[in-house]
Amino acid sequence: MTDETRPLGEGWDLHAHEWIAWSRTGLDSYEKFHRDAFLPLVPRAGQLTVDVGCGEGRVSRDLQALGHRVLAIDLSLVMSRAAAAHPAAPVPAVVADAARLPLATGTADCAVAFMSLHDTDHMPAAVREIARILSVGGRLVMAIVHPINSAGEFTGDRTDMDRPFVIDGSYLQPARYVDTFTRDSMTVTFHGEHRPLQAYTEALADAGFVIERLREPTNADPAKPWRRIPLFLNILAALERRGALRVRESRHSGTGEAGPVSRADPAARRGRGQAAGQLARDHRVPTLSSG
Ligand SMILES: C[S@@+](CC[C@H](N)C(=O)[O-])C[C@H]1O[C@@H](n2cnc3c(N)ncnc32)[C@H](O)[C@@H]1O
Repeated sequence: MTDETRPLGEGWDLHAHEWIAWSRTGLDSYEKFHRDAFLPLVPRAGQLTVDVGCGEGRVSRDLQALGHRVLAIDLSLVMSRAAAAHPAAPVPAVVADAARLPLATGTADCAVAFMSLHDTDHMPAAVREIARILSVGGRLVMAIVHPINSAGEFTGDRTDMDRPFVIDGSYLQPARYVDTFTRDSMTVTFHGEHRPLQAYTEALADAGFVIERLREPTNADPAKPWRRIPLFLNILAALERRGALRVRESRHSGTGEAGPVSRADPAARRGRGQAAGQLARDHRVPTLSSG
């Protein structure tokens, strides 16, 4: 199987170590400007905030520092384990598919999906599943690569900050991509799917969300061509009603049974942290160690 054809989650797991090393350098757009654009959209800490597609846990750690009670979820065992085993600020983490969350219906009042839904296969199913675990009135705060960004590229002279941005394929047609960047001798590989904006707004509406805010953050540096084109799309959505489509009660909810989380190795499960243990007891979800 080539990188272009494997499921997105598998690609991320395969290259997880690159991502963990890269995102912990502090050189990513998250630290440069995206965190400051995203976190103000997140509601004040409430009952439970679920970080869907948590990666190595940087957003979970920031939310935890803001007082949120966070459960971090990622399909990649390597990523989830890194979030749970962070040396300074571990977070309770679970290995699970965004389209099959191991939580009971209506358990959380906030979900964040920071830069993960465009990297997730079956995105509409993931959005429906996020709606299922939220209480009505709960909020989803999401960030994705802006669909205009994933549809095109700057062309021409790289020193010209006003060079054209060109979409030479179809904006409307979904398309998988694998992009590898090397910077400061570090390599990082992104596995994603370009989808038009309406793929997300329709998924949100079908799942019962109403969009309260939609923002288009970018790198405002005058020396970057991106100052003219949005890099990212951030959305704050409220769950107004349960979706019209039938919502499935998670097979794993409320049972504490080992489902996707059974991939956690025994070493990771030993010495559960207090927060992780409490979360696990409250929501009956086995978590990786966070202590
Ligand atoms: C770009 S990374 C972002 C990670 C993190 N939110 C951050 O900003 O640091 C995308 C993440 O989505 C995760 N992911 C992909 N498909 C997933 C799925 N079906 N369910 C849960 N997580 C998934 C990947 O494993 C990866 O950690």
